[in-house]
Amino acid sequence: MNVIKLALAVSTLFLIIQSGTPVEQASISDAPTYTSDGNLVPPMQYRQWIYLSSGLDMSYTPPQSTPSHSAFDNVFVNPSAYRSFLATGTWPDKTTLVLERRAAENPVSINKSGHTQAVGIAGLELHVKDRGTWSFYNVTSETSAKLIPRPADCYTCHEQHAAVDTTFVQFYPTLLPLATRDHTLSSAYLREITPPTAPQSAK
Ligand code: HEC
Repeated sequence: MNVIKLALAVSTLFLIIQSGTPVEQASISDAPTYTSDGNLVPPMQYRQWIYLSSGLDMSYTPPQSTPSHSAFDNVFVNPSAYRSFLATGTWPDKTTLVLERRAAENPVSINKSGHTQAVGIAGLELHVKDRGTWSFYNVTSETSAKLIPRPADCYTCHEQHAAVDTTFVQFYPTLLPLATRDHTLSSAYLREITPPTAPQSAK
């Protein structure tokens, strides 16, 4: 192979790599994979994915009393789905979102007020969009995550209150402006944030 042919081959290779759409990249690198018995293989490298937000002591009912134990949840997403969201304001197929729960601790080391996150993981849940359908999984070991079958309150709450495509983008500060820009906010969420219009007075 002479030098010109080699240069052509290399530049063609770069073109092929660069032309991959986010969805194609997802299926190569960070798409969901399943075990032979139908469970999901948990993406245990999710700490190298994109960080979206942390909630502290989130509760969906008005607080009755001070919570007896305090917890953080941290949300991550696979990089190819995140890149796709940056361009479109919504999630492509092969999106995996991870909710990691950790106890909030105080006092630890030099910290005297406020809270830091525990080393041990208290819970790991996944929200996966595959072949157009969203499913929840509970990570039960490093090698297996079990499907949470419908009906379950997970599906009801996410479908009725989440801002984009059944995910809680209203709490992910880097994503909410993009969904607003691209008009991908769900009608359920828009109804919740829009005050009811006053009845028109007859003239
Ligand atoms: C009453 C409402 C409600 C219910 C029920 C609920 N969630 Fe969520 N979920 C939320 C909220 C709010 C967030 C945003 C968390 C944050 O901002 O840290 C969230 C975020 C998540 C995420 C991160 C990705 C996303 O979709 O935004 C996962 C994964 C998740 N929940 C799994 C579950 C599972 C599994 C269940 C059922 C066992 C469940 N949830 C039940 C309200 C709910």
